[in-house]
Amino acid sequence: MSNASTTAKRPPARPVVRPVVLGIESSCDETAVALVTADRTILSERIASQQAEHAPYGGVVPEIAARAHADRIAPMTEAVLADAGLDLAEVDAIAATAGPGLIGGVMVGLVSGKALAMASGKPLLAVNHLEGHALSPRLADPGLDFPYLLLLVSGGHCQILAVEGVGRYRRLATTIDDALGEAFDKTAKILGLGYPGGPAVERLAREGDPQALRLPRPLAGSKEPHFSFAGLKSAVLRAHESGEHAPEDIAAAFQQAAVECLVDRLEHALGRIDAIPSLVVAGGVAANEAVRGALEALSARHSMRFVAPPLALCTDNAAMIAWAGCERLSRDGKDAGDPLDIKARPRWPLDPQAEAVRGAGVKA
Ligand code: KG4
Ligand code: ZN
Repeated sequence: MSNASTTAKRPPARPVVRPVVLGIESSCDETAVALVTADRTILSERIASQQAEHAPYGGVVPEIAARAHADRIAPMTEAVLADAGLDLAEVDAIAATAGPGLIGGVMVGLVSGKALAMASGKPLLAVNHLEGHALSPRLADPGLDFPYLLLLVSGGHCQILAVEGVGRYRRLATTIDDALGEAFDKTAKILGLGYPGGPAVERLAREGDPQALRLPRPLAGSKEPHFSFAGLKSAVLRAHESGEHAPEDIAAAFQQAAVECLVDRLEHALGRIDAIPSLVVAGGVAANEAVRGALEALSARHSMRFVAPPLALCTDNAAMIAWAGCERLSRDGKDAGDPLDIKARPRWPLDPQAEAVRGAGVKA
């Protein structure tokens, strides 16, 4: 994907399938803007990672994130429009992440979206970031119909959802403590691998022996449906502090334990619902090859289709937000749109009916 600072030459005008939606994402440490059409074409997109700004602190610093989003969104929006050869007036709707996430960053993106909607007179679509992840597999795969079983695994969330339609999400499980991406990031920190941790742990795990030590699989085999990763993270810390194990073995054992937890909890969920044709994984941790491999095998055992979006659509991006906007437009037609005074939300569960889970309010 391209960098924010280079603006490509305007290409010759060509017919664009409508509607075309401009998407803005700013809920964490990626600033992203994209233009997506109803026929699943990503006309143009820009993504600027803030990893370098946050790396010295070992994690995302909310104030730094909000300022970086504020600096970048306007020039990136200009660049994305120029790349596609469109004017703002030619866009049919503006979709912006309105939560959940780091509130300062979410406010910057949402206010930018409101300003663009006002300036163009086009509808504003306030998108739930999790809905962006949940629907992103349909952007990549035109054959993926509702319903599907979704494992949403990111830095802030670990959930199993039955996705029944646009705006219709039934949460079957969530984490009672840490999200899986968070556990990967903390493991990386313990092992001195830096930030962001997921890809670094995955790389190191390739060199290690997962059998060299035994780490716990919290809640595996439990009658309750949920996930827990805090105990696994503490076990990683103890293993590291014991000085008895090589970092690559700890990384491999951690990843194996995490993958087995995912498979166990998905088996549990599948045992409680009617047969469902597809298993879908989304969110940043879906970039992990060990996770993908295990889910593919699980799908084969249950005669389900396995769908994993390409890596660039798994981690935070604006194409998924624009696509969620396209899905809303095709569901709601002329009535689509949110009021311009809609608020940014630090927490925003996809399934408001889901019962509260101990310790999980933060991640719900
Ligand atoms: O979806 P995402 O980009 O942002 C959130 O909405 O949270 O997910 C980021 C998370 C981080 O915790 C990162 O360490 C993790 O996804 N991640 C991975 C991998 N790539 C990213 N975890 C494990 N293996 C990976 N290859
Ligand atoms: Zn995300």
